[in-house]
Amino acid sequence: MSTPRAIRTLSRSTLASVSKPITSRTLRPSFTGGLYLPATRHFATGSIRRKDIEGRIVPDVTKENEATVSGLSKAEEADEAPLARQSGPSLFSLSDRTIIVTGGARGLGLTIAHALVQSGADVHCLDILPEPVEPQWSEVKSEAESLGSKISYGQLNVTSPEDVYSTIGSIFQNARSTHPVRGLYHAAGINLLAPVEDIDIESFRRVIDINLVGSHLVSQAFAKEYFKRHEDAPPTSTMDTGVTKAGEGASIVLTASMSGTVANFGLDNAVYNSSKAGVIQLARNYAYEWSKRGIRVNTLSPGYIRTAMTQALFDQQPHLPELFLRTSLLGRMSTPDEFRGPVIYLLSDASSFMTGADILVDGGHTAV
Ligand SMILES: NC(=O)c1ccc[n+]([C@@H]2O[C@H](COP(=O)([O-])OP(=O)(O)OC[C@H]3O[C@@H](n4cnc5c(N)ncnc54)[C@H](O)[C@@H]3O)[C@@H](O)[C@H]2O)c1
Repeated sequence: MSTPRAIRTLSRSTLASVSKPITSRTLRPSFTGGLYLPATRHFATGSIRRKDIEGRIVPDVTKENEATVSGLSKAEEADEAPLARQSGPSLFSLSDRTIIVTGGARGLGLTIAHALVQSGADVHCLDILPEPVEPQWSEVKSEAESLGSKISYGQLNVTSPEDVYSTIGSIFQNARSTHPVRGLYHAAGINLLAPVEDIDIESFRRVIDINLVGSHLVSQAFAKEYFKRHEDAPPTSTMDTGVTKAGEGASIVLTASMSGTVANFGLDNAVYNSSKAGVIQLARNYAYEWSKRGIRVNTLSPGYIRTAMTQALFDQQPHLPELFLRTSLLGRMSTPDEFRGPVIYLLSDASSFMTGADILVDGGHTAV
């Protein structure tokens, strides 16, 4: 049998220092720098000094020395870990923050806004429509009143930079001191069905403008306002960011789509799908640039939902409902309430270690 690559990178004296009996349980497969340590009978842990491919000594992470290597004290690892003292349900509470919801006049946005109010948040809904739809809006308002939360509505076109900056600035400015702005759920968007060779350039630009540029403007305005108010925050390190601590940091959730990752069978949807692919990639880059400054960013990628948006597609192409059912592993479309769980999770401290991710909730549509 040939010598494993990992063994070849270790010096003779290092190999001689292996002192413990070799068992198949002493090593699990691991990547440490460039060195792959396979779970075979060739190695034992013991006092072995592992090296990476450039010959640097790699710390041997055992239960005993994990605290030293990770930079966390034993206390922090156990009871003092940021979320350790929170009960399961309180992890998902939003009662200490204000959350901005775009596309909040109806559909997914308004359903999520309702769920955020129920989780204790103050919520500001924004949408291009002059008024939110009834009777849903009145229901959310009266629930907010009974819970002592606040909900408000404002008209906003997410493609207008000036309006986006001033609206989001004033929401940050006027948030209750008990409820600083710590969340953004962005659901505003439009769809367009058209064979790709026929799409006129104005329609193409409009979809990109609302879905992609709109996502950017709203996120950018949010981040600028957040950073303005947290500029005195101490610099964070990769080991201990403010974001991972309960009660700190902010979370942005952008609505992408399963269509941001696949072409939809039976739908001529190229521009919409490209715009949503852009949203997923934008969020990854925001996560890269902002997570150490206190803002986590993730995307939600829903499958087909029963809303006004899909109804408009059905009006155009009546065969679509049957097609959607056939291509869903669960054999049905979703309803907006089925996305409350993932969004609350992403906006709350429960997801404190999650950023740059895309949560796909599509009834198994893209699994096959
Ligand atoms: N319905 C689905 O099957 C489905 C699937 C995946 C993703 N999504 C996404 O979910 C989000 C919500 O969609 P929905 O299904 O609730 O549809 P919807 O049409 O009910 O909601 C979209 C909202 O965005 C608003 N909007 C459109 N242009 C705007 C602008 N320029 N400025 C501000 N607001 C604007 C609309 O007025 C509307 O209230 C969208 O981003 C959509 O792409 C929907």
